[in-house]
Amino acid sequence: MKVIAIIGSPRKSGNTEMLASHSLKALAEEGIEVEIISLAGKEINFCNACMACSNQEECSIQDDFQEIYEKMKLADGIILASPVYYGSCTALIKAFIERAGYVARFNPQTLRGKVGGALAVARRAGHNFTIAQLDLWFNIVGMIVPGSTYWNIAFGREKGEVSKDEEGLKTAWNFGKNMAFVLKKLKS
Ligand SMILES: Cc1cc2nc3c(=O)[nH]c(=O)nc-3n(C[C@H](O)[C@H](O)[C@H](O)COP(=O)(O)O)c2cc1C
Repeated sequence: MKVIAIIGSPRKSGNTEMLASHSLKALAEEGIEVEIISLAGKEINFCNACMACSNQEECSIQDDFQEIYEKMKLADGIILASPVYYGSCTALIKAFIERAGYVARFNPQTLRGKVGGALAVARRAGHNFTIAQLDLWFNIVGMIVPGSTYWNIAFGREKGEVSKDEEGLKTAWNFGKNMAFVLKKLKS
């Protein structure tokens, strides 16, 4: 089994990547293969509503999107993690999920029944709206979202600050464990 974490921060090795890595560590401990996919430095353009994906399971825009979508197809679990930018997920991850959601919309079996969930990091506020945005995306593509012991949020501003948020880390860890629990139940 494999779980990928897609990181929506334009800042490489930042707080969001750290928090998601913590969930992945919990999953790896359960024997699940894991991979971090950072959108930082990747070219992810926004959906142009060309509708080409209604005829093919592929986005017509030539950039870094399709390679990541192919990894989503192969994964059993998908984490979407974003920093909060102006009370919302980043434009980067929003552009990504709009396109992934539309390609999957015309191919509804692709993501259906996979396990996933959102994580959000912020300096001060906006986490809940951000995880709601991302978790609602999982709902619309037919994925299963396990819970944790709190909402999957953590605090941090400068790179590395999230490592001081013990409860945030614990929540991300427990989310990873619950994801593994659901994945194992589904595959048994
Ligand atoms: C453009 C921008 C907008 C931000 N907006 C918010 C916000 O609305 N609320 C908040 O608490 N923090 C906000 N922040 C702070 C980031 O969420 C915070 O620094 C986070 O740890 C960044 O994660 P990263 O290290 O993974 O990039 C913002 C940061 C930037 C650069």
